[in-house]
Amino acid sequence: MMLWAPLLLTLLSLSLLPTTSCEDMESPPGRHEAHRSPAVIIVGSGISGVVAAHRLYINGYRRLRVLEATGRSGGRIRSLAYGKGFIELGAQWIHGPSPNNPVYQLASQYSLLDPEALTKENQEEDGDGHLPLCSISHTNAGKRISQALVANITELYSAWLKQSQNVSKEECDPKSSVGGFIKQKIAEKLTEWDTATADTKLAFLNGLLNHECCISGTHSMDYVALCPYGEYTLLPGLDCTFPGGFESLVTQIKSALPNDTILFNKTVKTIHWNGAFQGSDARIYPVQVQCEDGDMFVADHVIVTVSLGFLKEQASGFLSPPLPVHKAQAIQNLGFGTINKIIMEFKEPFWDPDCITIQLVWEGESPLAQSKINMKQDWVKKIPGFFVLERPEKIGHLLCAFIAGQESEYMETLTDDEVLSSMTALLRQFTGNPNLPPPIRLIRTRWSSEPYTRGSYSHVAVGSSGKDVDNLAEPVPNYGAKPFQVLFAGEATHRTFYSTTHGALLSGRREAERLIARYQELDMLHNKSKL
Ligand SMILES: Cc1cc2nc3c(=O)[nH]c(=O)nc-3n(C[C@H](O)[C@H](O)[C@H](O)COP(=O)(O)OP(=O)(O)OC[C@H]3O[C@@H](n4cnc5c(N)ncnc54)[C@H](O)[C@@H]3O)c2cc1C
Ligand SMILES: *[C@@H]1O[C@H](CO)[C@@H](O)[C@H](O)[C@H]1NC(C)=O
Ligand SMILES: *[C@@H]1O[C@H](CO)[C@@H](O)[C@H](O)[C@H]1NC(C)=O
Ligand SMILES: *[C@@H]1O[C@H](CO)[C@@H](O)[C@H](O)[C@H]1NC(C)=O
Ligand SMILES: *[C@@H]1O[C@H](CO)[C@@H](O)[C@H](O)[C@H]1NC(C)=O
Ligand SMILES: *[C@@H]1O[C@H](CO)[C@@H](O)[C@H](O)[C@H]1NC(C)=O
Repeated sequence: MMLWAPLLLTLLSLSLLPTTSCEDMESPPGRHEAHRSPAVIIVGSGISGVVAAHRLYINGYRRLRVLEATGRSGGRIRSLAYGKGFIELGAQWIHGPSPNNPVYQLASQYSLLDPEALTKENQEEDGDGHLPLCSISHTNAGKRISQALVANITELYSAWLKQSQNVSKEECDPKSSVGGFIKQKIAEKLTEWDTATADTKLAFLNGLLNHECCISGTHSMDYVALCPYGEYTLLPGLDCTFPGGFESLVTQIKSALPNDTILFNKTVKTIHWNGAFQGSDARIYPVQVQCEDGDMFVADHVIVTVSLGFLKEQASGFLSPPLPVHKAQAIQNLGFGTINKIIMEFKEPFWDPDCITIQLVWEGESPLAQSKINMKQDWVKKIPGFFVLERPEKIGHLLCAFIAGQESEYMETLTDDEVLSSMTALLRQFTGNPNLPPPIRLIRTRWSSEPYTRGSYSHVAVGSSGKDVDNLAEPVPNYGAKPFQVLFAGEATHRTFYSTTHGALLSGRREAERLIARYQELDMLHNKSKL
């Protein structure tokens, strides 16, 4: 009784048999239900996968399976119960919480946010996604940097960053990078600076660029392509967090699905497409999904939501036959870097309670100098600073450091004790207090080592463009009798919101809607043919 729509696909392509023969195969209840019941498998239970399943489900699709490699949903949204609250190991903020942000919309609908996040003022605030209101900057010599210098350099840097998002496409050299653009601006400005402050300014700018690496998820801003940089879109609103953990959003969306929709510990090994596979109901399906544990599933459509990092590592083996060249190239060319968090709890806060961030400035470092790094000794220099985590009354006094790139990947190879002693030494150096008590607890992430993520999030790297993002998003095959056998969602497939949870969410909806529209069209053709 669920055979109708895929059969119709074949019939339409052959145009031989009268469509009424389909009608004979129908049996109540709900002929209508029947058209809508192609078998859809979703690979990955991150926010894009869960949202795709939800969108299909509420549109009447019932033959859905989400196959998830790990033992949990959420993927890169991962909240850990801590004290009386939560800490975030993955996504932390709703970037640009305003009415056009679907993560914000859903979170408000489900009442998952604090009242102040819902105020109109908060939604209209242009936070730039950067540079919180209050911050303190320390140097490795244990000195504070003057607020005037911080303000001046921050303002310059923000202007350059805005310009880098606004270069005219005609004049842009495709080989140029955001890092190169900003470094050129720095070099030009350097001639105006007096020698007394120039070194401090350069060191401060170096920290800002390391911070930018965390935002872009890259080892160096020299890897981020300049020409398409402005395609990334910032939404208005002052970034906010979830008091009950970001994962509470995924839990809410999931709760509308039957509880056996998602299969955990079910790693997909290979997706065989463009084939003809016999299902247990004697139906012929174009796609077969083979799992690591030997299980096989057949389907009309598979929505792949795995990270770009996973796709890069799998190269061509994940799909059989391999993807067409333009898609394989998109996977290769787009960037996927690592950022990690190092979260530390202290018995007593040693920071100003009014400040949201502590910036670290390494004297002697400069964005214009190529220094050879000794990983073991220097990895901590990549840390641009700390965020003071909100809600200390619930979770205690916590600082969170971000670290990007190769140094971040190196940190993953160290033991907790090694990270803890490096961080203690770092904080003693910067506060100038050799007796500063070490953190009482340290938790750090290892996103590059996670086998089903292999990094943090995507960026449009030098050598790629927004077209690669669209190519990655394109379903295969895109035409013919059985189109859309394998569809692609996930953060890295969103042209303007890549790297974010809202980009991931919208990509899941987009692929669900692609199938919904397809079957509506078939439905309409069928109705017409009956007239
Ligand atoms: C440290 C960090 C901080 C971040 N901060 C923010 C932030 O503040 N705000 C923001 O908006 N975004 C942030 N992000 C980005 C955001 O988390 C992601 O963009 C988003 O969660 C990605 O969702 P997704 O569904 O595309 O992918 P994922 O969440 O990665 O989901 C993919 C799922 O597929 C599964 N999978 C992989 N391979 C297989 C396989 N072979 N078989 C079966 N299942 C498989 C994975 O286990 C995973 O569950 C952050 C990310 C990180 C890592
Ligand atoms: C998945 O595997 C983990 C680790 O082996 C296990 O703890 C968990 O219970 C499993 N989850 C499910 C739903 O099978
Ligand atoms: C900051 O900029 C102002 C105005 O441009 C200038 O007068 C002042 O000297 C600058 N301060 C520092 C510390 O660079
Ligand atoms: C972007 O560039 C155009 C043309 O070069 C200019 O007119 C405009 O003011 C710039 N916008 C911003 C925000 O810098
Ligand atoms: C799924 O839900 C049903 C009814 O809501 C319940 O009886 C069953 O135990 C649940 N199964 C699992 C695995 O949670
Ligand atoms: C096709 O006809 C059915 C039954 O008459 C109706 O419910 C459905 O909405 C129609 N579909 C379209 C796309 O017009």
